[in-house]
Amino acid sequence: MNSNSERNHDTYIYPGSFDPPTNGHLDIIARAARLCGRLIVAVGRNREKKTMFSVDERLDMLLGAVSGIGNGGNGGNGGSGDSGANSGNSGNIDVVGFSGLLVDFAGRCGASVIVKGLRAMSDFEYEFQMALLNKHMDDELETIFMMTNIQHTYLSSSAVKELALNGADVSGLVPANVYAKLKAKIDERNI
Ligand code: PNS
Repeated sequence: MNSNSERNHDTYIYPGSFDPPTNGHLDIIARAARLCGRLIVAVGRNREKKTMFSVDERLDMLLGAVSGIGNGGNGGNGGSGDSGANSGNSGNIDVVGFSGLLVDFAGRCGASVIVKGLRAMSDFEYEFQMALLNKHMDDELETIFMMTNIQHTYLSSSAVKELALNGADVSGLVPANVYAKLKAKIDERNI
């Protein structure tokens, strides 16, 4: 584990599955990037979880979506990820893939803060458990929660997938590049 001296107090990590990224995720990314010098958006590779998009596809969608929203900051090089050739950066936002425990990856990146978005009380129990477990594993890593923008409280990746798979128009719920990718994936599946 990283010692305190190796941590950068200005480096935050925003982890998630991002399967696919939604406007709610992008809102948290933009707001978190304004709070810190460097924001690492970390895409989890979870072999147990069946995802619609591969890690590389999710990295690619996130990179397209964050393009232009990071500020100058002291952005990294996007190269600290554990997987995915598609990692990269925009301003002070790095987009990278990781596998294994989040606390270990955060330690390797020198991050001092985990950022999570909270939509409603229903998120709280799970996020509270994760935050306490992560704190138990690495006492120097803090978790902070950002309340989602009110217009995104109902939004989740699973809802977006379900709506899109059933033919609903989700263009207002995800970034334009994600919408195009989602449509292409569904068309490809229906061939
Ligand atoms: O968007 P999600 O699905 O809530 O993101 C979940 C993610 C990737 C943040 C979470 O599954 C995670 O942290 N995975 C790494 C494994 C780990 O450290 N688990 C927490 C302790 S049990």
